[in-house]
Amino acid sequence: MIDIGVLGTGMVGEAIASRCVALGHAVMMGSRDARNPKALEWAARAGEHARVGTFADCAAFGAIVFNCTSGAVALDVVQAASAGLAGKILIDLTNRLPPDPRSTESLGEQIQRALPDTRVVKALNTLNCELMLSPSGLPGNHSVFLSGNDAGAKQEVGRLLAASGWHDIIDLGDITTARAAESLLTFWLALYKALGTATFNFSIVR
Ligand SMILES: NC(=O)c1ccc[n+]([C@@H]2O[C@H](COP(=O)([O-])OP(=O)(O)OC[C@H]3O[C@@H](n4cnc5c(N)ncnc54)[C@H](OP(=O)(O)O)[C@@H]3O)[C@@H](O)[C@H]2O)c1
Repeated sequence: MIDIGVLGTGMVGEAIASRCVALGHAVMMGSRDARNPKALEWAARAGEHARVGTFADCAAFGAIVFNCTSGAVALDVVQAASAGLAGKILIDLTNRLPPDPRSTESLGEQIQRALPDTRVVKALNTLNCELMLSPSGLPGNHSVFLSGNDAGAKQEVGRLLAASGWHDIIDLGDITTARAAESLLTFWLALYKALGTATFNFSIVR
């Protein structure tokens, strides 16, 4: 059992937090308000291994922390909670929506630069939240990507993903490769429009 922090009370935070509890971990969902109604409702449903707190409480609680906040505020939120994140693995799955065509630096890079003592791994931002820790929601082998500077952190995240059912986990390289992963959003949105469903993923055939 790992202590997992989930920063965010939106649909992604809820999907990740619920699946982490189902996988046997203790989970704290974090928000601006420790009495956030969505977080409290989730914890009541999720059972004894679920708890709620502020973003700072959540960062302090987790050995591994997922950043599931809005892309517009993702950097600010983790900066404000940085004390609790020192030495920890932060899985950043945020996207800027709409994408900022003028920005060359990814959110993943900005977060790693702002939090040098945190082991940031960009992952899971390239697929719908219902599939992030439930890859069996789609048939066949499909792919998930990791970007980060810390090889040990990527291995640990890889183990967590493998335990949730992932087989094709592709290490893209250091955190600068988060640009590639984040740039897939435009393509993902075009596919969503064309296919009329969010239940799809990229599969890298080789
Ligand atoms: N939807 C998907 O399937 C999917 C797939 C890949 C990546 N993503 C990414 O996942 C992230 C989460 O998406 P989402 O739709 O679940 O949630 P969201 O609505 O984008 O964000 C919700 C979270 O952001 C926090 N927040 C919003 N405004 C804030 C502010 N001004 N200051 C501090 N915190 C603020 C909220 O805090 P409170 O809890 O205090 O309200 C809440 O916890 C996004 O970055 C999104 O791009 C989503």
